[in-house]
Amino acid sequence: MTKKNNEALRKAFSMFSTGITIVTATDKDKNPIGMTVNSFSSVSLDPPLVLWSIGKKQPSYESFLDAKGYAVNILSNKQIKLCNHFASSLENKFDNIDWKLSKNGFPIIADTLAWFDCVKWNDYAGGDHKILVGEVTSFDLNDMEPLTFWNGQIS
Ligand SMILES: Cc1cc2nc3c(=O)[nH]c(=O)nc-3n(C[C@H](O)[C@H](O)[C@H](O)COP(=O)(O)O)c2cc1C
Repeated sequence: MTKKNNEALRKAFSMFSTGITIVTATDKDKNPIGMTVNSFSSVSLDPPLVLWSIGKKQPSYESFLDAKGYAVNILSNKQIKLCNHFASSLENKFDNIDWKLSKNGFPIIADTLAWFDCVKWNDYAGGDHKILVGEVTSFDLNDMEPLTFWNGQIS
């Protein structure tokens, strides 16, 4: 497809409304890493599996691929600032953020709608992305409203 068609395709993909998550892990020096992600999806109940996809050009790509798993933090409609913060390539993204480590050793962000602590199940080829499937080993949820993404708009 031409570049113009790519833009049209991106726009068409954005017609599917999603929630917004921050996926976290730790790098080889045990520093927390995290990025805003809307490609999250539940996959299976038995075994309990989820997936998301990471762009191969993301600065944190190698660190996420090397990690033993990840945590998915689903954002509430009060967390738009967190969404924008983790969608940027800042250093020390976790400074001034309220978080703790999960049992698997991945950052769980405070006051989210839900979180899933996952160990790596498998990685799959996905064009210019890699699809990371994780097995959920623990989770929690709260009674709040979601942050959503549709047509490039966060609300
Ligand atoms: C709403 C939203 C959803 C996003 N979803 C994804 C995604 O599913 N996969 C991905 O690789 N990047 C996604 N991004 C882009 C990353 O969050 C962004 O490039 C981030 O800076 C990557 O973190 P890093 O620079 O620490 O690697 C999304 C951004 C936004 C605003």
